[in-house]
Order: sequence, then C-alpha cells, then structure tokens
Amino acid sequence: MRKKFIAKTLAALLGIGVFTAAVPNVGAVNTCEAAFTFKNIGQTYDLTFDASRGVEKTLTYGDKEIKFIAYENIVYVKKPVNVEAQSLSIYIPAEYLEGGTINDYTAETAPIFMPNGVGGYMPGEIKPPTDNDPMSKGPNAALVALSRGLVVVCPAIRGRTTVTDGVYVGKAPALIVDYKAAVRYLRFNKDNLPAGDTDKIISNGTSAGGALSAALGTMGNAPEFESYLEEIGAAEERDDIFASSDYCPITNLENADKAYEWIFYGENKYYQAMWQIQDLQARLNNKKFKINADNANNPKTVKDASTMTKAEIQISGQLRDAFPEYVNSLNLRDERGKNLTLNKKGEGSFKDYIKRKYIESAQKALDAEEDLSKENWVIIKKGKVVDVDLSKYPAAVTRQKAAPAFDKMDLSSAENDEFGTTDNRPRHFTEIVQKNSGGVMAKAEQISLMNPMNFIGRKDVKMAKHFRIRHGAADRDTSLAIPAILALKLQNNGVDVDFFSPWGVGHSGDYDLDELFDWIDNICK
Ligand code: DHB
Repeated sequence: MRKKFIAKTLAALLGIGVFTAAVPNVGAVNTCEAAFTFKNIGQTYDLTFDASRGVEKTLTYGDKEIKFIAYENIVYVKKPVNVEAQSLSIYIPAEYLEGGTINDYTAETAPIFMPNGVGGYMPGEIKPPTDNDPMSKGPNAALVALSRGLVVVCPAIRGRTTVTDGVYVGKAPALIVDYKAAVRYLRFNKDNLPAGDTDKIISNGTSAGGALSAALGTMGNAPEFESYLEEIGAAEERDDIFASSDYCPITNLENADKAYEWIFYGENKYYQAMWQIQDLQARLNNKKFKINADNANNPKTVKDASTMTKAEIQISGQLRDAFPEYVNSLNLRDERGKNLTLNKKGEGSFKDYIKRKYIESAQKALDAEEDLSKENWVIIKKGKVVDVDLSKYPAAVTRQKAAPAFDKMDLSSAENDEFGTTDNRPRHFTEIVQKNSGGVMAKAEQISLMNPMNFIGRKDVKMAKHFRIRHGAADRDTSLAIPAILALKLQNNGVDVDFFSPWGVGHSGDYDLDELFDWIDNICK
C-alpha cells in the first residue's frame, strides 16, 4: 500500500501519469547507517597560507578598475574528505599590498566578506569576483565587496550530493562544519594573510546558503561541532564571526512546515519551482543535478497548477493547527517588549507583527511611487498602507509547495535528502510527518545541529553581533514567519538585527548590494 502511495505522490510531483520506475532509496527502511566518520582521502594538507601564490587580476566595476590579488583553490582542512569541496579562494584588493587605503580601510582593518555559494543544500562552489555574474548579468557581490575595500574569501562547501568513493560525505551538518573550518583557517593564518581583519568576518548567503550563513552567525564555537571539525583536521581556532547577512534563509526546518501552512492553508493549488522538479528527477534517475544560474534562486515555476491530494490537505490542517503552540513556546517579544503570541485559531499579536512587516514593505514601495492598486490584499487609504489582509495573500502570491512543504511524506524533498544517510537514503526530520507517513527519522543530533534557533542565547556559544536578514514579500519558498522568528529571537537575546521584507521580491539574494555594503560599513566603522 505504502509503496503505491509513494509512487503515486512522486508521479504527481513529477507531473507524469504512470510511475513504474523503481524509486531508489526513497522511502527505503534504513537499517544500518555509517557513523559520521569518513576516511580522509589520504593526503594531509599543511594549513599555512602561502602568500607567494597570489596572481594579480583586474576587473571593471562601473568606471573603476578593480585590481586584486587572487590566491585560489587552497585546501582549508588538514584531512579533507573531498578536496574540491573543502577548498577556498582569497581575493585581496591590490592597494593593500602597497600600504594603501580604500574606503577608509587599511590592510589591517579591512573586513573579510565571506559569501557561500550554497543553494538547494547542494555543494557550494567557489564564486570568484566577476563583472558578468550569470544571475545579476553584472558584477557579483564579491566584486562589489573588493571595490569597497573588503577582503573576500569564497569557500567551497560540501553539500547533500558530495560523494567520495561512493560515500555521501556532505549530508547535514557537513555544510556548517565546512563553513566553520574555513573561518578557522583564516584565524589560523591571521598573521600570514597580507590583509583582512579576522575579527571582522561577515558571512553572506541566499536560501539554503542564507540558512548556512545564519548557522555560522549563531553557532560560534559550539562544542557539539568539535568532533566533526577534528575529524577533517580543521585548525584549532575560534569559528565565531562578527556579522551575518542572510537572504531568504530556508531555516528552522523542523517548524517551517507549520509556518508554511499557517500562511497557505486553504490554498490547494500550487505551482512548483522548476529546479525542485529537476532535482528530484535527477535523484530518481541517479543522474547528476547542478544548481546554476538558470535554476537556483530563480523562482521559475511550472505554468500549470497542481492540486493537493486529500492526504496533503489533511496534513496541511494538522500543521497549521500546530503552529501557535510552537510560536507561544518561544516567548517572543517585539521592539516595544510586547509578547508575540497566537491563539488556537492562529490569530494574535504574532500575526499582527507579521502584518506590520508586510505593511512596512508595501509602504516603502508606495513611497517609491510603485503602483500597488492591483494588490487586493493591501489596504491603502490616502496614500498610506493601513492594513494587509493575510487571508488574500496566498491567492495573490500563489503557493509553491504542497503540504508538507519541507518534510515530505514520501521523502522526496531536497531537505529529506539533506538529512539523508551516508548511503544516500532520505529521512524525515519532523515527528508530525514521520508519524503520519512512516519512514525513518534523521538522528536527533543531526536535526538539532542544523537549526540556529537551538543556539541563540546559549552561554557556551558566541553569536555574531550583527545580523541583516532579508526575505522578499513575494517569497513563497518559506513563510515570512520563519525569518521573522529568527530575527525576533536574536533581537530578544540582545543581537543587533536589521530585518526587512522588500516589496515585490521573490526568492533571491544579493539584489541590494549597495545597501548590503553600506550596512557593513556602518557596523565596521
Ligand atoms: C532552496 C529553496 C527551497 O525552496 C528549498 O526548499 C531549499 C533550498 C534554495 O534555493 O537554496
């Protein structure tokens, strides 16, 4: 019965009528799981930075020539389990090697901008500075950072499809382990680097990469990661950072399904993202899939709507009903100290807070003379946005994911894969879905280490002092409630948080680079 059900759901997901192929690993019972101990690949690497390896390069940004020294493809751990995925590149403005100053920064004071290229929980590649980024069709964040006098460090990072000798070495929490190891590499070499202040490291990422950036910012020196870091031969150094920039973080995965249904319950039509279909298809066919500019962070959706099944509608209600209890357990407070809660029906001060974020967003757009007259969920009186009607929001922006949005009953999501085993069997990460559909849960530790919410406010962890969190008002990949809860919990624990939902923006990042680097200047100077 169950197998049939799984096949049917997958068929619906893939938009095919008959589903006959075997489903590799999906839904299979996991009997034995290799512990998180990998054979390192043999060679041991020296972690001392070699300043003689630099190559001078020049790119143009606007009418400026940006000269920088590139130190590329440096393995950042002593015992990598995947050399390609555990290498980084460092880019330093050339002026600093001649004692120069840029934007009031010097070689000693220049902050280190550390973007990760992770998307879809796939491996993150090194993204060198470019003036022709496939996403923006112009300069990327790394090039703009150099132009503003920052040192740029781009680490590659293991992801859910990283394989070494047939072993999946990049499942959760490997991506966080690697980002931390890259930070440790920089600290280990702080006296060898020609420029950059290792006490001013700023992470940046989008979507799964935004979640990763948030993790780095909230989990500094957390003791639970020690054995993972030791295993790959990470430098024995601190891994806390100064600031974290997080675009549309796909985070707090244990609760993201509930938050999604709190917003989208009742909307039973959904329009899937193309990359998610391609990703699943590749996994089912044992083919390679790569996130690239055409499919990552690009809300390209299928044209035709799918309709949620009875089982999906049923669990949608269950998830929606479970959200208030979660919100109330957090004891969140707004800027004025008012408690943010929800009653059983999902109404209350937390909902008012979310509405305020949308109102603020719409007002800014209105002030910039955008036409909002067709937005039937936005209520405008005399040039002021006075309210938003969240019951009309799902129809206005459309639902992207059937329920459950993340922990799929048939284990088919990118997140199920992320929480998979070293032999590539996807697993659940929420009890509510696992109880409903059967299948194996990921280990409690694996789940817990992925969630920034579990680390905020802990005395044995050093959080970043500053966060900048952005989640577009038209983002349907996760509910605005998820980054809002992250921002509120950080704020309630004394962290400086700049949280905003830009109007008309879908699931994407790095779209406001001038503002991002102004924020960095503000917190660093
Ligand atoms: C990403 C987007 C998603 O909707 C998701 O579930 C996981 C990852 C991403 O773009 O990285």
